[in-house]
Amino acid sequence: MNNYLEENKQRFLDELIEFLKIPSVSADPKFDADMQNAAKWVSTKLSEAGMNTVEICETAGQPVVYAEKIVDSSFPTILVYGHYDVQPADPYELWDSPPFEPVVKKTKIHPDGAVFARGACDDKGQIYMHVKAIEMMVNSGELPCNVKVMFEGEEEVGSENLETFISANKEKLKADIILISDTSIIANDIPSVETGLRGLAYMEVEVVGPNRDLHSGVYGGAVANPANALSQMIASLHDAEGKVTVKGFYDKVIELAAEERDALEAAPFNEEDYKDDLDVNAVSGEKGYTTRERAAIRPTLDVNGIWSGYIGEGSKTVLPSKANAKISMRLVPDQDWKEISDLFEAHFKAIAPPTVKVKVSRHHGGQPYVTPTDSVGYQAAFKAMEEAFGKTPVPTRGGGSIPIVALFEEVLGLKSILFGFGLDSDALHSPNEHYGLFNYYKGIEAIPLFYKYFAELSK
Ligand code: BES
Ligand code: MN
Ligand code: MN
Repeated sequence: MNNYLEENKQRFLDELIEFLKIPSVSADPKFDADMQNAAKWVSTKLSEAGMNTVEICETAGQPVVYAEKIVDSSFPTILVYGHYDVQPADPYELWDSPPFEPVVKKTKIHPDGAVFARGACDDKGQIYMHVKAIEMMVNSGELPCNVKVMFEGEEEVGSENLETFISANKEKLKADIILISDTSIIANDIPSVETGLRGLAYMEVEVVGPNRDLHSGVYGGAVANPANALSQMIASLHDAEGKVTVKGFYDKVIELAAEERDALEAAPFNEEDYKDDLDVNAVSGEKGYTTRERAAIRPTLDVNGIWSGYIGEGSKTVLPSKANAKISMRLVPDQDWKEISDLFEAHFKAIAPPTVKVKVSRHHGGQPYVTPTDSVGYQAAFKAMEEAFGKTPVPTRGGGSIPIVALFEEVLGLKSILFGFGLDSDALHSPNEHYGLFNYYKGIEAIPLFYKYFAELSK
C-alpha cells in the first residue's frame, strides 16, 4: 500500500491544492455558491476513490456530503466525519500569500514543506487524507471495514443543521465507531492521540446607558458610560487567582485524579518555546494549574470581541450609548453548556450597576467530550499511530471544541476517535494557516492502519 502512496504523492498534493482553491467559507452567504462547489468537488473525489453510494444531502443550510462503501456485512463499520467548510480568511492583508491561492513553502517546523491556504489543516487537508486513504485501500483490495463518510459544511458555524441531519438519519448512519481527523498531534516527532475535547458556551452582551451618544464634555462624569461599565463587569469575571467568578461555574467540573494529571503532564512541552512562539513575556491563567492544564482540562472564560464608541481615525469626544462584547467559555466534563449559559446570564445581569441596562443573548454551544482509552477504537488509533510514526504515541487532551461529537454519542450512541494530524502551530483560524506535507502523508499512511487494527481488535 505504501508503494501506492509513494507513486501518487504528487497527485495527492495537486488534488488537495485544487480543493483548497475553493473558498468554502460557511459564515458568509457571499460564498454559498463556493460551498456548493466544494461539496460537489469532494463528492466526485469520493466516487473516484471507489465509494459506492455518494450523495449530496441538502439541509436548511449547507449540504452534507455522504458516501458509503459496504464491503461485507460482517465487517465493522467506520463512520468518517469531517468538515469542508473553513473559517473566514480575514484579515486578508496579514496573509503572506492569498488564502485561496495555495502555495507550498518550507518552514522551520515543516522542513519538508507545508501547504499554505485557509482550511489547509482545518479541515480540508485532514478530510482529504481520508479520501486518499480510502482510494488506496480500495485500489490495493485491502479494505477490512465498511466505510461511511459524512462531511459537513457548517462545523465552523455551530453544526446546527447537522444535528437535524443525524437525528433524521439514525439508520443510515449506523456504525461501530466515528473516526475524525480535525485535531492536533504534539509535534511531528511526538505523535499523540487526543482523548477529549472541551465544550463551548458562546454569549453576547450589550450594556446600554443613555438613549443616544452624548458629548463627553457636556455629560461626562454625570451619566454612566456603558463602555466603562462593561469594562468593569468584564474585569470582575476573573478573580485574582484567575478563577472565573460566574456563580456556580465550577460546580460540576470533574477534577482529574493526580495520576491522570501526571500522565498528561508527562508529555513533552517546553514553556520557553511556547512563549517565544507567541512573543509573550509570561503565561497567565488559573492558579494551581500548568499551562497545558489551563489549555485543556480547565474551563475558561474569554472575551472574543468587544466594541463601543468611536473607533475611527483620530479622536471624537463622545460618551457612547452602548457597549458590546462577545464572550465565550470553554467547558470541561461535566459542565453543561446550556446550564453554564444560564448561570452566565444570571450572573452578568446581577453584576450590572443600576445605571445601565443589560441584554444577554446566546450563540451556539456544545458539550465537552471524553474518549475512553480502554475502548477498541482508541486502542486501534494508538496502534496505528505507533506503527505509522515508529514511536509510542502520547495521550493528550485537546483544548478546542467539536460540538457535534457529544451529539454523536447522544443521538447515535457512538464514540468518536480523535485521529488528527495537525499541529497547534499550524495557524488554524489565523492568517497563514498551513498543513505540513509530512502530516498530510503520514495521515494517509496511518488511516489504513486504523482500519486494520480496528477490524482485528473488533473480532
Ligand atoms: N478543528 C477545530 C477544533 C480543534 C482544533 C480541536 C484543534 C482540537 C485542536 C474546529 O474546527 C473548531 O475550530 N471548532 C471551534 C468550535 C466551533 C463551534 C466554531 C472551536 O474550537 O472554536
Ligand atoms: Mn475543524
Ligand atoms: Mn475550526
